Amino acid sequence: MNPDTPECAGGIRMTRDRVSADNKRIILNNRTVDVNQLVPIKYKWAWHFYLDGCANHWMPTEVSMQRDIEQWKNPGAFTPDERHVIKRNFGFFSTAETLVGNNIVLSIYKMVDNPECRQYLLRQAFEEAIHVHAFQYIVESLSLDEAEIFNMYRENQAIYEKDEFSMSCTDGIIDQNVDLTTKEGLQKFIDNLVAFYVVTEGIFFYSGFVTMLSFGRQNRMPGACEQIQYILRDESIHMNFGIQLINSIIEENPYCWTTQFTDYLITRIKRAVELEVNYARECLPRGVLGLNVALMREYVQYIADRRLEKLHLPRQYNSSNPFPWMSEVIDLKKEKNFFETRVTEYQTGGALEW
Ligand SMILES: [Fe+2]
Ligand SMILES: [Fe+2]
Repeated sequence: MNPDTPECAGGIRMTRDRVSADNKRIILNNRTVDVNQLVPIKYKWAWHFYLDGCANHWMPTEVSMQRDIEQWKNPGAFTPDERHVIKRNFGFFSTAETLVGNNIVLSIYKMVDNPECRQYLLRQAFEEAIHVHAFQYIVESLSLDEAEIFNMYRENQAIYEKDEFSMSCTDGIIDQNVDLTTKEGLQKFIDNLVAFYVVTEGIFFYSGFVTMLSFGRQNRMPGACEQIQYILRDESIHMNFGIQLINSIIEENPYCWTTQFTDYLITRIKRAVELEVNYARECLPRGVLGLNVALMREYVQYIADRRLEKLHLPRQYNSSNPFPWMSEVIDLKKEKNFFETRVTEYQTGGALEW
């Protein structure tokens, strides 16, 4: 680590040299830029992501699980294949949300020392805690086997492989003394940001979202699906913040964006698509609700291309979107939630691009 790089609070020194926005950088701020001073704000986008996150605030326990409980207890309400996919998705999300929160706090926060970006990271970390809470609340409400759900990421191959893909990048930052002043250090950090913001939150969550929201469209599991709808909205802000963060770091440190490195990232994203399709195969061995592995593959490839484009990388698949209704769920800004279980008062979803 560069000795001039402030870590965490970094200490303060007495001076009359005031912080100027021009001196601020996303990472590697020097000692003239105080990590504790939000203002003057240079990265207005980071502040606006923070405000959007706050405007979308919600808590799991505000959502009634009563109808879900009645439906889940009714032996005829779901086929065995439907129960299988629902439990798989709860199993995946219940630990994946924790992985994302841990990575923010243990990896990203110490590397990104810009105060307005840190303000958003604090908000995002809280939202991840709310998402963890949501799955705990759903599992408890439905009296599911907690051990089965929360151990699933170590017991199920497809979930394990997705989580291992992400967690190996957290370990890479925690275990080693990553030096962001070197090209290799920066690339390692960007690899972590891509693994979490682009892959975990931008790809690995999506076949779960599509499947669960397909139940919601039929008014089944309405309480769980309402919460998943809010999580999806939060996640699309997380992903957009992350991509802006990555692109800004690259803009400030263009030497790290080599062809060799972008080729590596494309390979990683293609691997993530394979893992997500494997997961869909595990969840939907015979298909439910008109969903099947072929449609899931098309959708995951479609969203992977969108993510690649936002990183200014070439599309790899050119697949079309088999679930155009998903964009309505994400773009919904106000008044009612998608399943009309209650009126909500969201002030903004921002102009979400996904
Ligand atoms: Fe989350
Ligand atoms: Fe997230």
